[in-house]
Amino acid sequence: MTDRAQLTIGDATPIELNIHQASLGEAVIDLAPMANTGYFTYDPGFSLTAACQSSITYIDGDKGELLYRGYPIEQLAEKSDYLEICYLLLEGELPNKSQKPGFIEQIKHHTLVHEQMRSFFNGFRRDAHPMAIMVGVVGALSAFYHDTLDIQNPEHQQIAAYRLIAKMPTLAAMCYKYSIGQPFIYPQNNIDYSENFLQMMFGVPSEPWKASPVLARAMDKIFILHADHEQNASTSTVRMAGSSGANPFACIAAGIATLWGPAHGGANEAVLTMLHEIGSVDNIAKYIAKAKDKNDPFRLMGFGHRVYKNYDPRAKIMREVCHEVLDLVGLGETPLFKLALALEKIALEDDYFIEKKLYPNVDFYSGITLSAIGIPTNMFTVIFALARTVGWISHWIEMMNAPSHKIARPRQWYAGPKQRDFKPMDQR
Ligand code: SDX
Repeated sequence: MTDRAQLTIGDATPIELNIHQASLGEAVIDLAPMANTGYFTYDPGFSLTAACQSSITYIDGDKGELLYRGYPIEQLAEKSDYLEICYLLLEGELPNKSQKPGFIEQIKHHTLVHEQMRSFFNGFRRDAHPMAIMVGVVGALSAFYHDTLDIQNPEHQQIAAYRLIAKMPTLAAMCYKYSIGQPFIYPQNNIDYSENFLQMMFGVPSEPWKASPVLARAMDKIFILHADHEQNASTSTVRMAGSSGANPFACIAAGIATLWGPAHGGANEAVLTMLHEIGSVDNIAKYIAKAKDKNDPFRLMGFGHRVYKNYDPRAKIMREVCHEVLDLVGLGETPLFKLALALEKIALEDDYFIEKKLYPNVDFYSGITLSAIGIPTNMFTVIFALARTVGWISHWIEMMNAPSHKIARPRQWYAGPKQRDFKPMDQR
């Protein structure tokens, strides 16, 4: 296992570069000695760049493996619950039987939002996309905590994490209630996290409402599957924003904005739109052809991944959850699910998808599941943002306490005009 590399530029003396071994996966080449060579490295999309050292999540794209602090996602989805995963991602270990109740109480203590937050919603049209509202109201949390927050203080970092984990379900449900003109429902601290979210989404003040335990467990598994995913676009955004010393609530708002894109967290909403557009199994071949056509911008949403060149392990679990939920709500034979199964089968047998290693990702089945739970399509990415908040804030805390912590400032390959003199109007 080599720990050295050499870079020879032209006739110059070769540059010795150190290689750092990872505890799992690819080793990294430390480019620091290139500092005075007069060269930059070029890696658009950062697909070959390790932007930081992290101990939180590990992905093996070729094997289709995902570990949260070393624990396989399959075991965590089956045996754990979302708040336990939050503790694991934040603290690095699963909570023991005395730590878990205390952590849950801490989170429950922060589920309410300031009453003035309600006023922010009134500034939005009722048909505003809930992700637009979430970017606004989560960023606005900065205004309520900014002055008392010392981001270098580990206790302040921890309370910011608790506030965000606790308040995201409340704010997400408020987005939905606002869009349908129903009153906001307050969190209830005598029920579990995911059940509490569902009651804030679907409860009404005029009558008692109780979530189905199966749907609450399905919601909890969806939160677990989306909790973290290494240095994806939105997590990298949170780290980049945090590196300037920005308020953690503002950094999470930046992560929400990044997640909204259809290439990233917006894909679950785009999958449902795509399935409705395909309409029937008879049309699958036409859309597979469109996805393969270089001149057609159409892509099969819910397929492909920058890292996974094998089946996304979350997609397998998501498909099982989807089946459970559909059976429970009596939609097991829903045309949309049957269409999704047929599309998955045909795509996985198609040479183009096999050659390009395009497999279903976590978003392929999450949309159908959320739809079966009764969550509207435009809320899908809000659910993703709710779940991913613990991953984002765990990476923010890790970045804030990293020995190498400094402002992120990439360079560029300049392709613009050389220096030239100002041109007066009569010469343009
Ligand atoms: C998430 O990074 C993360 O970890 C993200 C995430 C997380 O948890 O944070 O996992 C969540 O974002 C999942 C991905 C959700 N997005 C989608 O489902 C949108 C559809 N997928 C594609 O847009 C695409 O696969 C990406 C954006 C996900 C990945 O793009 P890459 O790795 O940059 O791959 P690429 O765009 O360079 O594609 C490689 C080839 C291309 O063909 P060539 O130019 O080499 O000939 O595969 C083709 C692409 O045209 N391709 C597809 C395709 N995805 C890639 N062709 C058809 N349909 C697709 N979905």
